[in-house]
Amino acid sequence: MEILQAAAELQARTEKWRQSGQHIGLVPTMGALHEGHLQLVRAAARENDVVVVSIFVNPTQFNNPEDFRLYPRLPEADAALLEPAGCTVLFLPSVEQMYPQPTVLTFDFGPLERVMEGAHRPGHFNGVATVVSKLFHLSRPHRAYFGQKDLQQVAIIRQLTADLSFDLELVAFPTVREADGLAMSSRNRRLAAPDRAVAPALHAALVHAADLIEAGEPAEAAQQAATQLLAATPGITLEYLAIADAQTLQPLTGAARPGQAVAVCIAAHLGGVRLIDNVVVQA
Ligand code: PAJ
Repeated sequence: MEILQAAAELQARTEKWRQSGQHIGLVPTMGALHEGHLQLVRAAARENDVVVVSIFVNPTQFNNPEDFRLYPRLPEADAALLEPAGCTVLFLPSVEQMYPQPTVLTFDFGPLERVMEGAHRPGHFNGVATVVSKLFHLSRPHRAYFGQKDLQQVAIIRQLTADLSFDLELVAFPTVREADGLAMSSRNRRLAAPDRAVAPALHAALVHAADLIEAGEPAEAAQQAATQLLAATPGITLEYLAIADAQTLQPLTGAARPGQAVAVCIAAHLGGVRLIDNVVVQA
C-alpha cells in the first residue's frame, strides 16, 4: 500500500491505472476507521482492480468547530488497518492540498437538504458535496463506496453524481453495527462508558418505529412511540426523529403506501457526542 499526500500525485497515479484498463474503487473517509469503513474497503477490493481510500477530516463540512477539533485523528492506526483490507493507495491530503484556495461555489440540493442533517447542520452538505466532487475528479473512480448509515449523504451524492454527470457507479453499503445494535461510528470512541451503555437505545427506538410502520401504523404514531422510548432513557437528548420516504427523504404523513420504502432517521446527543442512525423498512 502506498501513501500519497499530494493531489497531483493521486491524479497521475489513477490516470495511469485508467489508461491501462484497471478498474478503480474509491472509498472516501474521515479516518478513525472501524469495521464499517473496512467493510466498504473490502467490498471495493473485491469489485475493482485497485482501491483508493481517502482520509481527510474535511473542515468545510463541520458546522461545529468543537466537533471538528475533537474529531478523532489516528492516521498510523488507520494505515495499519487499510493494507490488509485491500487498499492500494491511501490518500492522506493536508487542508492546503484539498483547498489550495477557499471555494466559492455553493451547492443547493433543494428539498433533499432541507430536512434532517441538512436542516440541522447548515452548510454540512455543501462541504460534503465540495470535497466528494474534488475526490471524484482527483481519482476518477469506476465505483465509489458510501455507507447507508449516512442515508441522506448517499441521497445527496447520488444527486450530485447525476447532476454533474460523474461517470461512476455509486455503491451504497448496509450499515455495520456493534453486537448490541449501535451503528459503528468514529464518534463512538468519544462516548463515556455510561453513554456507551445507553447508546443501543437509539437503534432500539428506530426498530420500534420501523415495526409500527411495517404494521401499517401512521408515521405520527410511530414517531411518538419511539420518542417516548427515548425520553425514558437517561442521558440521551433527542435532536430529531424523522420518518420519511426513503427515496425523497420528505416527511411521511399517515400510513405508508404498500411497497413504499420508509426511512426512520435519528440524531441524538449523548454527553456532548452527536450520533446519527437510520433504518429503512418496506411497508
Ligand atoms: P466518515 O464518517 O468517515 O464515513 C466514511 C464512509 O463510511 C461513509 O460513506 C459512511 O457512510 C461510511 N460508514 C460510516 N459508518 C458506517 C457503518 N457503521 N456502516 C457502514 N458504513 C459506514 O461520511 C464521511 O466520512 C464524510 O462525510 C465523507 C463522505 C468522507 C466526506 O468528507
